[in-house]
Amino acid sequence: MPKIIVALDGFSSCGKSTTAKLVARQLHYAYIDTGAMYRAVTLYFYNHHLSLTNPRDVEKALREIQITFRYQPETATNETYLNGLNVENEIRKMYISERVSEVSAVVEVRQAMVAQQQRMGRSKGVVLDGRDVGTVVFPEAELKIFMTADPLIRARRRQDELLAKGELVGLEEIMQNLQKRDYIDTHRTEGPLRQAEDALLLDNSFMTVDEQVEMVVRLADERI
Ligand code: C5P
Repeated sequence: MPKIIVALDGFSSCGKSTTAKLVARQLHYAYIDTGAMYRAVTLYFYNHHLSLTNPRDVEKALREIQITFRYQPETATNETYLNGLNVENEIRKMYISERVSEVSAVVEVRQAMVAQQQRMGRSKGVVLDGRDVGTVVFPEAELKIFMTADPLIRARRRQDELLAKGELVGLEEIMQNLQKRDYIDTHRTEGPLRQAEDALLLDNSFMTVDEQVEMVVRLADERI
């Protein structure tokens, strides 16, 4: 059976990764969380006290960083590894969310991540979620969805996610973080967040996860 590329882009905390993971499972495709890669780069910069504005620091980081995904049977998902260490939990924390958009606006960082994403998806049969998948990484993707949701609903979802991992963060702080990230992601020069012309808009404010997954799987089936 021919395989396709499914690109799910959109604003922060729209439920892209939840949807992408389940769609990938149903289609028996690989799931690539491109946001996790930018988060892992951010963690590296943070841990090594590197500066985003120092070209030597950026070059050193990109030379040394190795990001991989490994399937974890206990969680039935791919978890993110940075230079061989599982960083899946660490990269979801608030201090990384506060810094990740600045890191992902650096042109060299984007070029390196995009190149790796293109290598990972070149045989197709992949679902990727991110900001620039349908516009830059795989503009030829057979199915492109641009996801959005009401800002308050998004903030509540993110709050629940953080709480489930033991981090209690106020709604106001989360709203501000989402707004700031969306602003930087939309306004950067390299790979800005925008809806591809041929992407379908999906506002999931009042949809259940099951409904979203069913819709995306149906759209994918129509294209296979
Ligand atoms: O998807 P997630 O919210 O984990 O992404 C974290 C951040 O990584 C985003 O706010 C954005 O700055 C960056 N990102 C990006 N391009 C992607 C995926 C994520 O710039 N394809």
